[in-house]
Amino acid sequence: MRFDIVTVFPEIFAGALEAGIIRRARQAGLVEIRTVNLRDFATSRHRSVDDRPYGGGEGMVLTPGPLFAAVEHCRGAEPAASSSVILLTPQGETWNQNLALQASRLGHVVLICGRYEGVDQRVIDTLVDKEISIGDYVLSGGEFAALVVVDTVIRLLPGALGNAESSVNESFSAGGLDYPQYTRPAEFRGMVVPDVLLSGDHARIREWRRAKALEKTRSRRPDLVPGDAGCVR
Ligand SMILES: C[S@@+](CC[C@H](N)C(=O)[O-])C[C@H]1O[C@@H](n2cnc3c(N)ncnc32)[C@H](O)[C@@H]1O
Repeated sequence: MRFDIVTVFPEIFAGALEAGIIRRARQAGLVEIRTVNLRDFATSRHRSVDDRPYGGGEGMVLTPGPLFAAVEHCRGAEPAASSSVILLTPQGETWNQNLALQASRLGHVVLICGRYEGVDQRVIDTLVDKEISIGDYVLSGGEFAALVVVDTVIRLLPGALGNAESSVNESFSAGGLDYPQYTRPAEFRGMVVPDVLLSGDHARIREWRRAKALEKTRSRRPDLVPGDAGCVR
């Protein structure tokens, strides 16, 4: 799989793409990630990529020229249909595990990081395949949202996690939220690990985890419990 991230701040990505699971997945050849500096596609003398909004108002808007040129560069000779262009925007569909799973099956994803007041509408109308938000709040730019998309998708690529079961059993993939986790020591400042987890009885442990996961999901996210009122799936 390949990600191209179009941004005016490629330096934001340097550390994040070189650590942990993302780094391992890149080294293993599971994913290729390129940052593409939008300013490289500016044609003005000052490498400007934004301008004032028509009709007046605050702030600046990313102009269409450099964005079209950057995406065309990312696509190269490949047909437009073989890549998917995602714009990060607070106005998009809210990102979730299911969308991450769908994205993990794509071959080439171009992520456009907005800045300032956003991007010219003609980019959205003709270049963008999908608009994605990572939540109901406003970031200064799409870069952190792009990192959220990249990280959640890479976890789902076959072979990206050490244990193939990890992404299957965690929150949202298995339906609801994950069960509580404990590790050594068995007693810490008077707080003890539940006996069942020390019992070695794997059937009882499985049942305890299932019950705890359901209890937590019911209390925190009833919308995720199948059969419960308000479940969205
Ligand atoms: C300051 S925001 C622009 C907000 C825009 N004027 C609005 O009210 O919808 C600048 C950029 O940050 C990114 N951004 C902000 N919040 C986001 C969110 N919740 N999810 C994804 N991207 C976001 C987008 O790329 C956006 O173009």
